[in-house]
Amino acid sequence: MAEHKHPPMGPGKGPGRKGAFQKPKDLRQTLGKLMRYLGRYKLHLCVVAALLVVSSACSVGGSFLIKPLINDYILPGDFPGLARMLGVMALVYVTGAACSYGYARIMVHVSQNTVARIREELFEKMQRLPLKYFDTHTHGELMSRYTNDIETVSEALNNSFGSLISCVLTFTGTIGMMIYLNPILTLITFGMLWVMLFAVKTIGGRSRRYFAAQQKALGEVNGYIEEMIEGQKVIKVFTHEAVARREFQELNEAYRQAGTNAQTFAGIMPPTMGNLSYLNYALTCCVGALLAIRSGDLGGLAAFLTYSRQVSQPINQISQQVNTLLSAAAGAERIFEVMETEPELDEGKVTLVQVTEDRSGTLSEADHETSHWAWKKADGTLVPLRGDVRFDHVVFGYDEDKTVLHDISLYAKPGQKIAFVGSTGAGKTTITSLINRFYEIQSGTITYDGINIREIEKDSLRRSLGVVLQDTHLFTGTVADNIRYGRLDASDDEVEVAARLAGAHDFISKLPKGYHTVISGDGGSLSQGERQLLNIARAACANPPVLVLDEATSSIDTRTEALIEKGMDYLMEGRTVFVIAHRLSTVRNAKAIMVLEQGEIIERGDHDDLIRQKGRYYQLYTGQAELA
Ligand SMILES: Nc1ncnc2c1ncn2[C@@H]1O[C@H](COP(=O)(O)OP(=O)(O)O)[C@@H](O)[C@H]1O
Ligand SMILES: [Mg+2]
Repeated sequence: MAEHKHPPMGPGKGPGRKGAFQKPKDLRQTLGKLMRYLGRYKLHLCVVAALLVVSSACSVGGSFLIKPLINDYILPGDFPGLARMLGVMALVYVTGAACSYGYARIMVHVSQNTVARIREELFEKMQRLPLKYFDTHTHGELMSRYTNDIETVSEALNNSFGSLISCVLTFTGTIGMMIYLNPILTLITFGMLWVMLFAVKTIGGRSRRYFAAQQKALGEVNGYIEEMIEGQKVIKVFTHEAVARREFQELNEAYRQAGTNAQTFAGIMPPTMGNLSYLNYALTCCVGALLAIRSGDLGGLAAFLTYSRQVSQPINQISQQVNTLLSAAAGAERIFEVMETEPELDEGKVTLVQVTEDRSGTLSEADHETSHWAWKKADGTLVPLRGDVRFDHVVFGYDEDKTVLHDISLYAKPGQKIAFVGSTGAGKTTITSLINRFYEIQSGTITYDGINIREIEKDSLRRSLGVVLQDTHLFTGTVADNIRYGRLDASDDEVEVAARLAGAHDFISKLPKGYHTVISGDGGSLSQGERQLLNIARAACANPPVLVLDEATSSIDTRTEALIEKGMDYLMEGRTVFVIAHRLSTVRNAKAIMVLEQGEIIERGDHDDLIRQKGRYYQLYTGQAELA
């Protein structure tokens, strides 16, 4: 199940940087959803729109002022008037710049808030996804929702959105002014613009393909590196270094080629556009000069020439911004896909509450901390929590068409220790996942204190169960924090008591900072056995009425195990324990032992019964005894 156990084979699907130039599947719908997020910033966006219009108008209008500047002040020689006019021009440009700055600031505010919200919602959603989702999606895939996709959305909102509108406004404004100033010269500009558009389309199209190839190659290189870092130990164990290096060289070479192509092509665009724009300028100059000699409108010509220098800039930018926006929309679409995945269903109404019991034995809900728990049904009746778990003809498969558990029936009465034994893959872990409702069963029922677990709220159900999972996980933090994970309000003393019960106190005391030692990277610096002890301490700290130990002591020596068992027996007095153990000596004292093979319970009984039956358990036990 855990991702990092994959052997290093071939390139993985690691997260590349921006997923450049991918087209969204349904642009309108995605934009609509994005707009819902932006909706709360209506006022901000209105101000942005106003500032955009003013800044574009200033940038277009400023250039127009050249015409009166020359015709009315420079040519007649009115120098005080010229100074005033220059002042007005400066004011227009400064206003334009101030507006640009203003809308950019507001957009940053809007986009960062929006993106933070999306990130938060995505994280919240991820916590509610059923385990099945994680079984079928790699963690690299999920990670890239947070890294690449949210990043492209953020970039688009920060910059591209405003720039695009500003470019379009400036472009139309400029064209309008040009037509107003000189319709004949505008025809030349239109001709040249057509040539430029053609260049953008052909060069841009090719370069887009090369960039996409570069992104893909980068993704593969990154994925490979990620896998190699995770699998370092396995690589070393199998002396796979040379192969890994060779595979990496191939990927790296592919990336180099794709990068060279993309960058070469990207380098062609600016000089091409620059030259075309100079050509346009030169042509306009010549024709414009001829026309101006006749009309005498020198100022109009100067203003027109300024516009004709400016008009080509937005074309290139518009096409770039549209691409950024499209890939952001594609990213947003993938984010929404995760957000719209069916969450883990929780139709349960029965909750877990703390209760007090008066002398006559009647329960009432407590408003303070007590040591008694009860199930509170929807109608308010309280059922004491005892830890009676029953499976009735349960059928289950991770996939609909492949049954893993066939017709499992069992019961565990409060205080009983029930053991599951059987070969690897028999379905032991699966049974415990079902008690927890990690997965939905296909038929049959599971009841807990007589209540169908479907009717119990998942949080309450899981709080009532202490599960020590087969694959342990420690979080970055101190040893004490990790133990306290079981119950956040446990005091330091309670943490230590739990550690002692779990037999973890001895090794913790020997750590450099004892309980305050920081562990990171899933406790990589601890031995497997020590990690298991911490996990047991965590469950002991939670002090649940039902405890599930899934091969929890498999990496612990027999002497320590015996110690833990004593502690656990004390802790679990009057409560139910499910134990899965491959060391059969661990389960000898269980009230009932279920022998599981290929998803079926083939034998059940206590140790002596099973030995007497001389069946599978007997074989396993005697086989083990011989081995030991
Ligand atoms: N998340 C999963 N998705 C699909 N199949 C699974 C998953 N987990 C376990 N299985 C399959 O279910 C069967 C029982 O597995 P499991 O309960 O883990 O066995 P045990 O704990 O007895 O070794 C195995 O065949 C295993 O391959
Ligand atoms: Mg297992």
